[in-house]
Amino acid sequence: MSQRTLVLLKPDAVQRGLAGEIISRIERKAGWRFAAMELRTFDRATLEQHYAEHVGRDFYEPLLAFMTSGPSIALIVEGENVVPGIRALAGATDPLAAGAGTIRGDYATITRENLIHASDSAESAEREIKIFFPAQA
Ligand code: TYD
Ligand code: MG
Repeated sequence: MSQRTLVLLKPDAVQRGLAGEIISRIERKAGWRFAAMELRTFDRATLEQHYAEHVGRDFYEPLLAFMTSGPSIALIVEGENVVPGIRALAGATDPLAAGAGTIRGDYATITRENLIHASDSAESAEREIKIFFPAQA
């Protein structure tokens, strides 16, 4: 099924020079294409919308501080099964639980700085695309 998803390469990915590697892993998958890509330092209001489900969790404020700490890259990726596909490429939220060969498993060590966001369902993808790319909604 062709679908689209929102991907964020978080500030650690840009700062560590891993953006190209991560983009390349996505780009090489058959049948996927980039529909939007933008380097941007997110403001708090944008992230409050994006991470609304996590308000009140102990990690919420440190997460927003991290996510506003420097530029990220926001992308829309389209293609066959791209929502579960990029979740699988990213690996588990906790990098220590993420398998070898996944982005988080290969390059991250702590949960907050886990390099990449990818929408967890087609419904989440549409909600999140509206937040980051209102003109593409
Ligand atoms: P979550 O939506 O659970 O994970 P995912 O990014 O895999 O969809 O959490 C959002 C982000 O919040 C997660 O990528 C990193 C951060 N986070 C923490 O810092 N500590 C935690 O215990 C959890 C669950 C998440
Ligand atoms: Mg999530």
